[in-house]
Amino acid sequence: MAELLVSAPAKINLHLEVLGLRPDGFHELAMVMQTLDLADQLRLRPTADGRISLSCQRSDLPTDGSNLIVKAAELLKARVGLPELGASIELDKRIPIGAGLAGGSSDGAAALVGLNALWGCGFSHAQLLEMAAQLGSDMPFCIDGGTQLCFGRGEVLEPAALAAPPALGVLLIKHPEASVSTPWAYGRCRDQRGDFYLSRESDFEQRRQALRQGPLLEALAGQRPLAPLRNDLQAVVEPEVASVRDGLALLRQAGDALVVAMSGSGPSLFALFAEVGCAEAARDQLQPQLEAAGFEAWVCRCTGSGATLG
Ligand code: C5P
Repeated sequence: MAELLVSAPAKINLHLEVLGLRPDGFHELAMVMQTLDLADQLRLRPTADGRISLSCQRSDLPTDGSNLIVKAAELLKARVGLPELGASIELDKRIPIGAGLAGGSSDGAAALVGLNALWGCGFSHAQLLEMAAQLGSDMPFCIDGGTQLCFGRGEVLEPAALAAPPALGVLLIKHPEASVSTPWAYGRCRDQRGDFYLSRESDFEQRRQALRQGPLLEALAGQRPLAPLRNDLQAVVEPEVASVRDGLALLRQAGDALVVAMSGSGPSLFALFAEVGCAEAARDQLQPQLEAAGFEAWVCRCTGSGATLG
């Protein structure tokens, strides 16, 4: 195979509930994640020199062994036991970096899926999911994408039973200079809310069941109006990060917005609309204020797939 293209979509959190703390130090979560049609592109070419080389047009993105693409490639090589496998990987970065949109995780998931095909490793879908979980909590979701409930650290997946991706329009904004460290956000959450964390598995399961049977999934299926979204990290990040406060206030001015929320640990923010045309109209309406405050903005659709070849 001469070269392979893989797309790596961004995700937003439509629900992020921190249930408690796990014995491994991570947080036990109940989330709904959704992929968008905003995606990075990976171009993979095989080499036989055993080297993994990554290049990207964004000079502020590390391309060394700390990048999840390189980690994914090294893990695949180690698992298949062929150290001579190499690849030259070009990353076309379109998802904002450090944004709570799983851009890095999605790139890593796309590398697992793409290199598995390029190198003919033959790992099964289940094996790729297991490797993804080893590399990052959000990474297994990014393999299949769509609309999924994510439990555990985020790696226990239950696809939502929807006939089609939600027909919502998404207006996504991020301040280019803002970033939030995920470990910091979870650490603050623990400091502020740790006393109220649940600890029994039966209590965790009750919350999972409430999400499975709750109004959010019915709303995403178009069967009822959307109620306000829940993101427990937003309550922690919003008071401390000015661009999150300002951006949420801006999005709330969009007349037709159904809901407004932060994604993941931030600082990306989004508003959902009944259809993509309403999201475009809101972007046009808010453009002067968004520009004045220095926000970048994207209008997106919800999609039904994760890392995709071709
Ligand atoms: O798994 P990942 O590398 O994406 O996690 C980054 C950090 O976010 C972890 O080191 C941890 O501090 C925090 N985290 C957490 N609970 C989770 C997921 C992430 O505390 N379920």
